[in-house]
Amino acid sequence: MKQRAQFTTKIGILAATVGSAVGLGNIWRFPYEAGSNGGAAFIFIYIISVCVIGIPVICCEFIMGRGTHKNVHGAFNALHASSLWKYASYLNILASLMILSFYSVVAGWTLNYLSEAVTGKMTMTGEHDFSAEFGNFVASPWQPTVFTIIFLMFNHVIVARGIKKGIERISNTVMPILGVILIVLMANSLLLPKATEGLRFLFYPDFTKITPSVVLSALGQAFFSLSLGLSCLLTYSSYFNDRTPLVKNATMIATLDTIVAIISGIIIFCALFSFDGEPAAGPKLVFEILPGIFNSMPGGYFWAVLFFLLLVFASITSSISMTEISVAYFSEEYNISRKTSTRISTAIGMIFGALCSLSFGILNDFTIFGMSLFSLFDYISSNILLPLGGLIFTIFVGWIINKRFVQEQLTNNGQIARKSSKIIIFLIKYIAPIAIVVVCLSVLRVI
Ligand code: PFF
Repeated sequence: MKQRAQFTTKIGILAATVGSAVGLGNIWRFPYEAGSNGGAAFIFIYIISVCVIGIPVICCEFIMGRGTHKNVHGAFNALHASSLWKYASYLNILASLMILSFYSVVAGWTLNYLSEAVTGKMTMTGEHDFSAEFGNFVASPWQPTVFTIIFLMFNHVIVARGIKKGIERISNTVMPILGVILIVLMANSLLLPKATEGLRFLFYPDFTKITPSVVLSALGQAFFSLSLGLSCLLTYSSYFNDRTPLVKNATMIATLDTIVAIISGIIIFCALFSFDGEPAAGPKLVFEILPGIFNSMPGGYFWAVLFFLLLVFASITSSISMTEISVAYFSEEYNISRKTSTRISTAIGMIFGALCSLSFGILNDFTIFGMSLFSLFDYISSNILLPLGGLIFTIFVGWIINKRFVQEQLTNNGQIARKSSKIIIFLIKYIAPIAIVVVCLSVLRVI
């Protein structure tokens, strides 16, 4: 039998998993969610969600992936054969393909904005109406769709090359550059005239702003940002070796991902307050408001190029991880080559990505439950499938599978102290599932 691929170094494991977590979710989604949901109060709830739900769910995925060295379907089967549980894997694969579709659309926009920044179009002097420009761009029939497809082609080339030569190599190259760009951009934002107002918005909570829907948004954001609940980290961890410390890695991913989200908040809000932008602008924040700021900022050309380069890099290390879920599934469960299964995932991504992209223009009138295809995919996956997936993982690992297996995975067969594993098991069994259910029910106004 062909030997299964593995990540080759500790750094490679960290770069790939953090690369999956750090993406548009941190730089595009987190600031607008924080901006529309009360700033610091949202961030406070977000951090609690990451600690009590995020880290335990990462550990569940790691236990299943590293413990079985299989794709999500194989892992459910191996741990509980002939049961209904394996159907959960279909939900995961569906969610991964839905997210890949709409994520590639936004990643395509970032490619377009990067090209506009590099060619100097964005920072050209003269009158600009960036809202109208963004509106015209996304509604145009071919341009955003072409960028979506170009992005998926880059994504395809990396994933098709495999774990070591594709995913690990690109993550090792891109992640350090991404770290440097983030720090440079943060330093620039902190030196802007009204930076302290931005910091106040981010760090000075007004607890009266907390409502059930703010809590659900924070939970949904935590799942999306940590790539949780759709077996992305399960799939990546199936390529870990048996010495990888699971709890330590889970904590590092959660910490680094949260730091990047907060740095992105600093970059964006310090600039926004200094140039009188609107923090609650929603998803268009990065594409309509920021270009205007770069346009009036000293050295704007340089900062615009750097910022959109950051977005492109961050999105590619995330999109490859969500593609890997279905690629591993197709190739291992149907015994087809990696190249063919990558082609299948890319084709699905391209078809639905194009439809999502067109839902801003010619398919604008086609709505389901009152939502465009893009919003529907985002809503169903982030607010329903990911929390549901997280709930299934915690119940499966906490209550269904063999306790000794869970303990052995968390302690690497007794080589790592048991204390942290006990806390994690408690969170997996009780706190995380109850918290997910309570948040979802309170939003549905059942409680
Ligand atoms: N965590 C990624 C981000 O913050 O952009 C998004 C993501 C990646 C979601 C991988 C799901 C996934 F499987």
